Amino acid sequence: MSQKDYPRAFGRYEVLGILGRGSMGVVYKARDPLIGRLVAIKSIPESLGLETGKKEDYIKRLFQEARAAGALQHPNIVTIYDVGESEQGPFIAMEYLDGITLKEILSRGKKLNLSQVVELTRQVGEGLDYAHSRGIVHRDIKPANLMIVEGRLVKIMDLGIARLPFSDLTREGKLVGSPSYMSPEQLLGEELDGRSDLFSLGVVLYQATTGKKPFTGKNIQEICYRILHDDFIPPSQLEPSLSEEFDYIIAKALAKNREQRFQSGKEMFSALRELLAPEEKEVSAPRISRGKEAEPTTQIASRKEASSSVNSVYDESASFSSSSEIEDIFRDLTLSHRVLKLREEKTVKGWQIFLLVLFGLLALGGVIWFFLRG
Ligand SMILES: Nc1ncnc2c1ncn2[C@@H]1O[C@H](COP(=O)(O)OP(=O)(O)OP(=O)(O)O)[C@@H](O)[C@H]1O
Ligand SMILES: [Mg+2]
Repeated sequence: MSQKDYPRAFGRYEVLGILGRGSMGVVYKARDPLIGRLVAIKSIPESLGLETGKKEDYIKRLFQEARAAGALQHPNIVTIYDVGESEQGPFIAMEYLDGITLKEILSRGKKLNLSQVVELTRQVGEGLDYAHSRGIVHRDIKPANLMIVEGRLVKIMDLGIARLPFSDLTREGKLVGSPSYMSPEQLLGEELDGRSDLFSLGVVLYQATTGKKPFTGKNIQEICYRILHDDFIPPSQLEPSLSEEFDYIIAKALAKNREQRFQSGKEMFSALRELLAPEEKEVSAPRISRGKEAEPTTQIASRKEASSSVNSVYDESASFSSSSEIEDIFRDLTLSHRVLKLREEKTVKGWQIFLLVLFGLLALGGVIWFFLRG
């Protein structure tokens, strides 16, 4: 899409450029002239390939859910500012983030180390527990919906943005979504609660540490079958730096039966934190200021009873900004992104300098030749 193909505005928001594309539409960088702040506009093409009745239903649901998510205020959740309808169809205006998605990081072949996994789980877990305690389930936790800002802050994106029913994932024979991160109950179309998102987070952690997804297949049906029925290769077999204890935690996160999974993000974080060396634990410990002690990992595999702490939330005063000890923990992952960008820019500059010098020499040669001939 070239510059002139951009819609110039969505409602009062002036479009500045494209941030990215997803299966549902394009995300634009825009400016709110009233407040003078940058926003991200998610446009949802009106057609969406849905039949007329379904389309109206979907748009109604989109507005309802965006309104509910608009009431959420959490440092680890992208804030929704506004919803509206424009000539291009419905849109959502949200907080603009200058960061890099976990999907981009992983697509560059990077893997997360244990401290980074613990920190990712802490921040995503905090955001999810907060949303779940308010009755909102994300339904689409995946690396593309986790943005890392300034090498340290993790933001959950697309929370509360109505998703198409699974049956609509394949439209006109074209796959528009992936079930790879979906929980068994989500594939079966059952009523969902927060534990479905925690399963998806488990898939994300598996992929972030091993570079592979736990359930793969040649087609959508095969992936679904594996999620519903098959075991996966223990992460430590794919990444030798991981321990068997880590395998246990992933096995619990990816249990087919939600009663056997971690019941809250906090519980998942506490289990992972136990794997850190004592000095690293010290660093992450003060971030949580309420709740019971972390359980030993030896108990994790054997424990089958579900705890009733689905709604347990972190102390909101333990916000990200209050802690500076482990800031920049993701820096080595995000830095390469910046360095790569800089290198690309430098390459262009190198060529420019080379051409400039070449032209300079040619001009000088021309002048010398002119005088010598004269
Ligand atoms: N609030 C935001 N601030 C900055 N960039 C954003 C924001 N929201 C989305 N983006 C960018 O737009 C891209 C597309 O986002 P979108 O949610 O449409 O698709 P996706 O999550 O990658 O995939 P899918 O549509 O399959 O869920 C993201 O990968 C990200 O780079
Ligand atoms: Mg998204």
